[in-house]
Amino acid sequence: SAALRPLYTAAQVRELDQRTIAAGMEGFALMQRAASSAWHSFRAHWPQARSMTVLCGSGNNGGDGHVLAALAMQSGMKVQRISLKPLDALTGDAARAAELATAAGVGCTTWMPESVLEGDVIVDALLGTGLRDAVRGDYVGAIECINAGSQPVLSIDIPSGLAADSGAVLGLAVHADCTVTFIGDKLGLYTGEAPAYTGEIDFRPLGVKALGYTDIIPSAWRLEEALLPEALPPRRRTAHKGDMGHVLVMAGAPGFGGAGLLASEAALRLGAGKVSLATAAEHVAPALVRCPETMARGVRGAADVEALIAQADVLVVGPGIGQDAWGQAMMQSALAAKAPLVVDADGLNLLASRWPNLRRDDWVLTPHPGEAARLLGCSTHAVQADRPAAARALQQQRGGIVVLKGSGTLIAGPQGLMVCPFGNPGMASGGMGDVLSGMLGALIAQRHDIEQATWLGTLTHALAADRGAKARGERGLLASDLAFYARELINP
Ligand code: ACO
Repeated sequence: SAALRPLYTAAQVRELDQRTIAAGMEGFALMQRAASSAWHSFRAHWPQARSMTVLCGSGNNGGDGHVLAALAMQSGMKVQRISLKPLDALTGDAARAAELATAAGVGCTTWMPESVLEGDVIVDALLGTGLRDAVRGDYVGAIECINAGSQPVLSIDIPSGLAADSGAVLGLAVHADCTVTFIGDKLGLYTGEAPAYTGEIDFRPLGVKALGYTDIIPSAWRLEEALLPEALPPRRRTAHKGDMGHVLVMAGAPGFGGAGLLASEAALRLGAGKVSLATAAEHVAPALVRCPETMARGVRGAADVEALIAQADVLVVGPGIGQDAWGQAMMQSALAAKAPLVVDADGLNLLASRWPNLRRDDWVLTPHPGEAARLLGCSTHAVQADRPAAARALQQQRGGIVVLKGSGTLIAGPQGLMVCPFGNPGMASGGMGDVLSGMLGALIAQRHDIEQATWLGTLTHALAADRGAKARGERGLLASDLAFYARELINP
């Protein structure tokens, strides 16, 4: 789809680099292109800036910085250039780039802990995709110095310290206001810690048509809003509720009333034809008062849900079910069903503890990092250290589609890995997951392919939260607020 943007690993971008060079463009010419694009990006973002400080690492990322310094100087900018290594210790294209800047009249000092960053804007050309392991040596102090300053920061290719493949911070990383990234857009700019570091992302392909290399398969894709109109055409004029699918939400053990209401209402708002809610008896009256369109039924155990399951096109199971007898009965019944499943919350915890080897092709698992860790038998920290690997591993083990929630939500399925670059910290509030599971159920019920439904639902959920935050701010955004904005989004 044109609505998906390809993302690459650092190794793939290196390969694209090599092929471009093999196809006749000199490596140094590519570096000049990168620097020239970075200069355009700089100018576009800070047209008033009179001066800049460029911090150059010892590799080719630093090389880009030296050439940028030369270009800025030639355009009349006051340039302070700081190199992490003495210039005579540089090699290859980086050395050539440093010479070019020196020849253009840009002075250079070697980094010292006492160095003062004088420019109106700081350019971070310390570490690019060549970063290995935790940041060490002088780079630590240089990154701390950038972050301690008050000036805006442009990072070249990737904020120094951020891992290009996982979005993890390796020790510490530069807080950029803008990241200009080249040749291939990188997954690590969108997930994990990345959204707290990259600032705006300005992707410049430098004339390299990555998709033209059909043997270099993008490691992931970025979901875009343009996917929605493409996938959600107007409804047929003669549609009836039977065409729009029936969602059964199995949620809300005694004492946990809200989750089921949130999930079932979200399913209705995402256009499901009918929504049933199987919940503990005490939640039925409040559910009907809140949303009479929900067909809420009190259920005590497996025998009470059989008939409901038989009528449903998709089951959403897990929100607020707890892990004792009631929840176990709901899970047991859901797992015996033929319909596709969306499994969330305690449904996932029960899968981890009671069904450790079960896999299915027709389910969507929606863990947050803690639930993913329980399913994988590792720590939450390990999940977050490499979210793409965790999402892929879980999908491999369990089949179906895995939605690894958290900043830069990842979706792993047979068609590959997707990242959702939308959403905001307003979503750090209770009930957001319940709403997501209901939305996914509704889209599956409406006959979307399960994987595509998962992309659409995740995207709609995040974009709705962004609209909500834009309208009234991030703090105080409620999960139940999302429905209003989601409805606008699914009727493009
Ligand atoms: N702590 C401290 N230093 C580290 C660490 C760490 N944890 N990890 C790596 N380094 C050092 C390395 O030792 C190396 O320094 P050295 O050369 O003195 O040994 C340096 O960091 C390598 O880092 P990078 O500059 O990020 O890596 P590389 O030289 O591979 O350049 C590149 C990366 C190609 C610039 C990439 O970011 C990119 O694709 N940029 C955009 C396109 C571009 O500019 N292409 C032209 C480049 S020229 C060419 O391809 C020939």
